[in-house]
Amino acid sequence: MADHQYATESSEERATRALGTLAAISAELASARPLEAIIDRILGTITAVTDAAEVGVWLHTPNGMTLGWGRGTRLLTEQEIRNGLPGATEKQSRNDLRLEGIVFGERRVGALALRTTRILEPEERLLLSALANLLAPELAHAERSRQLEVEVASRTAEIERGHRFIEKVIDSLPLGLYVIDREYRIQSWNRKRETGMQGVSREEALGRTIFEILHRQPGDMLRREFDQVFATGRMQEYQMESTLSGEQRTYRISKIPMRLGDGPVTHVITIGEDVTDWQQAQERFSQSEKLAAIGQLAAGVMHEINNPLATIAACAESLGYRIEDLEKAGAPVSPETRDFLGIIENEVVRCKQIVDGLLDFSRPKQPRKERVSLNEVVERTLFLLKHHVRFKRLSVQTTLDPLIGRVPQASTEQLVQVLMALLLNAMDAMQERGTVRIVTRPGPTVHDGVILEVIDTGHGIARSEFTKIFEPFYTTKEPGQGTGLGLSICYGIVQEHGGRIEVDSTIGQGSTFRVILPVVET
Ligand SMILES: Nc1ncnc2c1ncn2[C@@H]1O[C@H](COP(=O)(O)OP(=O)(O)OP(=O)(O)O)[C@@H](O)[C@H]1O
Ligand SMILES: [Mg+2]
Repeated sequence: MADHQYATESSEERATRALGTLAAISAELASARPLEAIIDRILGTITAVTDAAEVGVWLHTPNGMTLGWGRGTRLLTEQEIRNGLPGATEKQSRNDLRLEGIVFGERRVGALALRTTRILEPEERLLLSALANLLAPELAHAERSRQLEVEVASRTAEIERGHRFIEKVIDSLPLGLYVIDREYRIQSWNRKRETGMQGVSREEALGRTIFEILHRQPGDMLRREFDQVFATGRMQEYQMESTLSGEQRTYRISKIPMRLGDGPVTHVITIGEDVTDWQQAQERFSQSEKLAAIGQLAAGVMHEINNPLATIAACAESLGYRIEDLEKAGAPVSPETRDFLGIIENEVVRCKQIVDGLLDFSRPKQPRKERVSLNEVVERTLFLLKHHVRFKRLSVQTTLDPLIGRVPQASTEQLVQVLMALLLNAMDAMQERGTVRIVTRPGPTVHDGVILEVIDTGHGIARSEFTKIFEPFYTTKEPGQGTGLGLSICYGIVQEHGGRIEVDSTIGQGSTFRVILPVVET
């Protein structure tokens, strides 16, 4: 064993050997052995040379901690190691203790301590200083590494906190959001995209290309959309219809360019927002605005037409009396004159009906206002229509909820007029064969009121016509078959009752007209 070998040597021999070891350690330091191995080696050397019972090395870390190696570390308190031995200057003994400060540049980076059974020889003290000097840069380096480690750990934690925060923000958005890089690889995928219709988990999506994940969309189209944003650096926006959820929904898709530096676009953020409700509300709003304007115009024009019509009717009537008088007096009156008069009278009646219809639309007359049961409205209308020739070939199915409340401040007569117009339209759309369903039911919540639905299996209505059909005089029927006033009158009456009309339709399959009215408990 090395210790025994040293013990039998003279102090000179020991010094020489120690110097040899010192040279070897320097070489090892140059070839960058791990710090722990070098410290072990130094501690071994000190123990062997000085016959020390215990030896230790300390490193002062930047965060105020002291790291120690060797059994000698038990000899002193941290305070003593940092400040030197109490009541003694550095390199002096406290009894059998010796403390050698390790200084790098101006700074104390650690200490060497040992307990010996005898007074150290001057060469041994020199050796200790030399070893302390050798260790100094190593400890300074280790200290710096520790400092860096601590810094990296705290920065990493900070970045992770930032990441988690941003992730929470984009997960809380009521929108689907994902980000792709220039290789079309997904770099971010939010909660809504995980839970949406084409729900794909984040783990599954991240790192894969968008074409692999959104495989239901045509890849070349998707690529073109992204390439356009990458190339132009401008945001692209468009709308998309989807029936994946079972009903038709409208989405607004925005593709937003993102740059990590000052250079070209590095990523594209895609946001998908369900704007169906917003769009419907928007359409309803602009439709009611337009119809209100038409209503005002119609009311003005009709008022102007009413007076000349009344004059024409009065003149025709008195002409009739004149002709009667002439005939009584035996004067010859040509049959054509009678016919012409008849035509004038009939046409005046037709004009009056149109004018009345338009007035109904623009400001529906308000006869009695009572609490009306929609089920009674249905019964009354069907009773009236039973005698209609065209209606006889049609079958009507009713599903009436006996428990629905009544419509307050309503007019049975007007609501019958509404249902009648809807049923006549349904009948026209089905060319008088097929089944019309009439449904009454409560709205989904108390505030939604009551619903009256007329569901036909007719030719249907194109989406683009949905708002036009409520305009006065809009008709697709042959001249003489329809005036285009039916739905506009319905609209006016329902509006007057504080409700609204909605339409759903699929070309070739049929239409549903839904009248939603306010309700009070019966
Ligand atoms: N159930 C339906 N199915 C298909 N198309 C319909 C239906 N209801 C209405 N329409 C369309 O809406 C248009 C307007 O209807 P509206 O009731 O206002 O007028 P009209 O039926 O043409 O004439 P009028 O009711 O004055 O006799 C119709 O011409 C038709 O094209
Ligand atoms: Mg009609």
